[in-house]
Amino acid sequence: MKTQARILLDIDEIPKTFVNIIPYLKNPLPPPINPETEEPLAPEALERLFPKECVRQEVFQGKSVPIPDEVREAMVRFGRPTPIQRAYGLEAALKTPAKIYYKREDVSPTGSHKLNTAITQTYYASKEGIERYATETGAGQWGSAVALSCAYFGMDAMIYMVRVSYEQKSYRGTLMRTYGAEVVPSPSDKTEFGRRMNKEHPGHPGSLGIAISEAIEDTLAHENTRYTLGSVLNHVLLHQTVIGQEAIRQMEQADEIPDYVVGCVGGGSNFGGLAYPFIANERYSESKFIAVEPEACPTLTRGEYRYDFGDTAGLTPKLKMYTLGAEFTPPSIHAGGLRYHGVAPTISSLVLEGRIHPIAYDQVPVLEAGRLFAKTEGIVPAPESAHAIKAAIDLALDAKKKSEEKVILFNLSGHGHFDMAAYGALLDGTLS
Ligand SMILES: Cc1ncc(COP(=O)(O)O)c(C=O)c1O
Repeated sequence: MKTQARILLDIDEIPKTFVNIIPYLKNPLPPPINPETEEPLAPEALERLFPKECVRQEVFQGKSVPIPDEVREAMVRFGRPTPIQRAYGLEAALKTPAKIYYKREDVSPTGSHKLNTAITQTYYASKEGIERYATETGAGQWGSAVALSCAYFGMDAMIYMVRVSYEQKSYRGTLMRTYGAEVVPSPSDKTEFGRRMNKEHPGHPGSLGIAISEAIEDTLAHENTRYTLGSVLNHVLLHQTVIGQEAIRQMEQADEIPDYVVGCVGGGSNFGGLAYPFIANERYSESKFIAVEPEACPTLTRGEYRYDFGDTAGLTPKLKMYTLGAEFTPPSIHAGGLRYHGVAPTISSLVLEGRIHPIAYDQVPVLEAGRLFAKTEGIVPAPESAHAIKAAIDLALDAKKKSEEKVILFNLSGHGHFDMAAYGALLDGTLS
């Protein structure tokens, strides 16, 4: 038996705190600003949108935040701690001396890492007496996580799903409805902004920016409703740091220090969740952090670093981040969760510092990498996660060329069981 095939933790090894990256940044994080005054926003202004505890965490400057027992218990119920697995099959296929490890966020019942923050945010909201959450979803992973979390903590969920994903992955919508959520394709006829988009651009494929605008409009129009976001914001990435903290313990068990820590980046939450506990720990100062994005939506590799809106209608505060422009509609690639014009301000800062290295790939080699992973490891990865796999494969091939025994750790952020249209297009030769 190969000893590092699966590295497991006990249930009581679930982290007790979240790691806040903000005090570890070289320069202070530029604050969100009010678009009308261009002045820093008072945090209380966000309380009509988000639960108070999430707002408090958004601006929190300390190093850690305790995880409530109820949240840790829900995490156990839904599959944490997640395993780390050594990719023996993939390594053999590549004939590489590199050792490849992956953190299995695909094992959550909704299929991705998104449940970590959905559970946490929904817990805070329900404790504050909020009855309904409105949100957007791209690939449907976030919407599924919110739908399950709301079912678990007894709240209603209203989900605006980007139209192209709603059509490519109709069973995602069915999953969310099974959990009890209401789901509509966006742009929808439920909001003024959605109706305007549909009138001006009939058949619009939608984008995360548009769906966010709809969910915010819905939130402001309904009493006792709050908005929940699955990426980008400080508190969301904070909650995802359970991934990296578990990974550190597991890599210690394997007696390894990763040379490379790799993740795909949409808004930055799975990558930040894996990478931040390593970045915050001196022991990993030599590790290299690789953020992988699609060529079709190259926010970090070709965007500008400036203040921009988080949504298309301009309803959010402005954030300082790498952006392709709030009005940018990315091509309808299969990795719907990576079709976002901006990226987390903390990830942006670390890219500027030179601590995180971005790289972009086209979706054809990405899905080919996903297929090789499926054939060699048995798990069909989400198209988003296949971006990380493609980068891990290239690093392993580079190590082979140089005869180096590099250690590569990547985040398998989700499975692709609802993404068969993507693999079907690859197999049929219709993917471009
Ligand atoms: C499986 C999976 N991975 C990655 C992402 C990208 O989001 P983030 O960058 O916040 O991890 C998504 C978003 O929907 C996703 O579903």
